[in-house]
Amino acid sequence: MALDSFDSAVDGLLAEARASLQSVDSLEALEAFRIQFTGAKNGALKSLQKLLGAVPPEHKPAAGKRFNQAREAIDQLLTEATDKVSQASSGKPKSSTGPLVDPTLPGLRPRIGVLHPITQTLEHLKEIMGRLGFNVTEGPEIEDEWHNFVALNIPEDHPARDPLDNFYLATAKTNLPKSSTDPQPAGNSGGADIAARLLRSQTSTVQIRVMESTPLPLRIISLGRVYRPDAPDATHFPMFHQMEGLWVDKNVTMAQLKSVLRLFATSYLGGDVNVRFRPSFFPFTEPSVEVDYWWNGQWIEFGGAGMVDPNVFRAVGIDPEQWSGFAFGLGVERLCMRRFGITDIRDLYRSDVRFLRQFAS
Ligand code: DAH
Repeated sequence: MALDSFDSAVDGLLAEARASLQSVDSLEALEAFRIQFTGAKNGALKSLQKLLGAVPPEHKPAAGKRFNQAREAIDQLLTEATDKVSQASSGKPKSSTGPLVDPTLPGLRPRIGVLHPITQTLEHLKEIMGRLGFNVTEGPEIEDEWHNFVALNIPEDHPARDPLDNFYLATAKTNLPKSSTDPQPAGNSGGADIAARLLRSQTSTVQIRVMESTPLPLRIISLGRVYRPDAPDATHFPMFHQMEGLWVDKNVTMAQLKSVLRLFATSYLGGDVNVRFRPSFFPFTEPSVEVDYWWNGQWIEFGGAGMVDPNVFRAVGIDPEQWSGFAFGLGVERLCMRRFGITDIRDLYRSDVRFLRQFAS
């Protein structure tokens, strides 16, 4: 084939491609264009390549160059056609049967969650105690007997350690080897198997952990969950929250304990709240009191407190002749329920958002 004829074949092809492009207005037409011109089997470029084979060798370089130009030109046309079609399809509604947006209708408001009343209470308590100089600490919910009982001066035969009154983790005693990370009792461990584990029954565990690890003096609170196998009723639930407090310094007194708890109660429950201290007993404090507030014609207990027992100090290697301290443990649900007017503790844990939403702050 002469070079002239090849050139005119190229010109013809490009003219045809430009003309076809005018009518490309849909994805289907675009695909037809692509097949017609660049199709691997019978596309126009393929035919042109065959003609190239018939050009005499001396004209091959020139013809090959024209062929490459033609191929690039077609690619360019294809890109333009693709842009044209995609612009057109994004500018108009996808289909007349799909959901149409009416921008004049009011929008759907996103439903924003609220903090659980207990979470709100925990934050509030931290804020009040923070103003009284107490730092927040945390302790684990899975505890060993050393921190839950032994170091707190609760002897082996004390009813508080009854397996029926605690959530012992059954496998712990047999499977967990005593490891070097297990706490080593600083004093008399009472012969307890410190490898046994349980869900902590009180946050007083954190008193021990803090005294084991923090230099004196110290003033901390710790808030969190505790677990006891109580049948649920209006005032009991197998999981609830406590706020533990501990102040250790030189010459800490019972008068300070009472002042701190009174200040706390008036800050949280209101300036007119009536609070009383009743003599009581806890193994880890001496003397000990229980603290009540007056509500709806009766005294409601909301916690226990007292001066840290010298045996507890000795268990963590603190000299009770030099240091003194007070501790308290308050029931967070009791405080929360009184403030929000909730009368059944189970309502807090039913996860019924219609109930919980009422306490949005
Ligand atoms: N741990 C006690 C309980 O769960 C409450 C308590 C009483 C905590 C006296 C204390 C305390 O720190 O000093 O019943």
